[in-house]
Amino acid sequence: MQDKLTLMIPGPTPVPETVLLAMSRHPIGHRSAEFQKIVKRTTEQLKWLHQTSGDVLVMSGSGTAAMEAGIINVLSRGDKVLCGDNGKFGERWVKLSKAFGLEVQVIKAEWGQPLDPEAFRAALEADTAKEIRAVILTHSETSTGVINDLQTIAAHVRAHGTALTIADCVTSLGACDVPMDAWGLDVVGSGSQKGYMMPPGLAFVGMSDRAWTAYERSDLPKFYLDLGKYRKAAHADSNPFTPPVNLYFALEAALEMMQQEGLESIVARHARHRAAAQAGMTAMGLPLYAAAGHGSPAITAVAPEGVDAEVLRKAVKERFDILLAGGQDHLKGKVFRIGHLGFVCDRDVLTAVAAIEATLQGLGLHKGTPGAGMAATAAALAG
Ligand SMILES: Cc1ncc(COP(=O)(O)O)c(C=O)c1O
Repeated sequence: MQDKLTLMIPGPTPVPETVLLAMSRHPIGHRSAEFQKIVKRTTEQLKWLHQTSGDVLVMSGSGTAAMEAGIINVLSRGDKVLCGDNGKFGERWVKLSKAFGLEVQVIKAEWGQPLDPEAFRAALEADTAKEIRAVILTHSETSTGVINDLQTIAAHVRAHGTALTIADCVTSLGACDVPMDAWGLDVVGSGSQKGYMMPPGLAFVGMSDRAWTAYERSDLPKFYLDLGKYRKAAHADSNPFTPPVNLYFALEAALEMMQQEGLESIVARHARHRAAAQAGMTAMGLPLYAAAGHGSPAITAVAPEGVDAEVLRKAVKERFDILLAGGQDHLKGKVFRIGHLGFVCDRDVLTAVAAIEATLQGLGLHKGTPGAGMAATAAALAG
């Protein structure tokens, strides 16, 4: 049905009407006092979201631009880095690091499994010459629906003393607690189309003081993504280049909504939706893809047996106008993913589970008691 599509993918995520309306204004001059006020306000709001007293810089781009900026601004040619890889995005940071001539040691885990913090501790402790300059990892691995133990890994990096933690928090910020200062994170990358409840287009990079010290020695080529330019401009409530000003209107409105809800409530809501989605799938006999206890609060990946996940996903879209995400790479057809990130309420999760259940029943593939998925989801939401 026209205009009925509900996004239950891990990005782009649904955008609240308040945010859409905030955007639907005539653009204003990006060197005007009015725009400066917005930059000042959103900078404070972003520090609140990142739980940091450091800089959080805003640029045009997607999450990958944020991560690329984070990496090229604190590292130098030939630097040794440890990269965590347990999914599509971990793989991407390995490729990105190699593209910039870094010497990459990969710490791998099977897709669906979390990264092992002990493997990071061992590699960092073995580095008595202190050659490792950074540990690069994904907090919420969107491709598999696994949440990695960023807090523990970052603590091991701190104990090393020299290395920085560069974290992809693209699908964790705004879904779970990411206290940048308390966890000692040095670089935190994210993008607007995820927990921010905005359309795509803005990239964010949080930078610690240690990251800025590393910036001074970094010799990797950069111009548009040179974070020094963004810091200088941000300290004057500005942006070095022409920013997408309408997305700034959206940013201010979205962060205002998030502040009104409160971080604790946002985190609790995402945890509740994870529990509800997991309960529904399990009650229908659909195995979860992420290892037990390691599911991301933003995404539930499901690996149905005896049914092509793409067939199921397409049927849910055609019959119910709910868009689920498919499996990536070798998981195509084997996995579908329910995004419950950002502007998602209990009704959305309940409806998505009901749609999956009705579709399975229609295809004659429901393995449990009819209605069991809905009942389990409703109970988890209530509890
Ligand atoms: C964990 C994670 N990292 C990075 C990205 C890349 O972001 P973008 O597509 O915005 O560049 C995504 C996008 O889905 C993601 O989920």
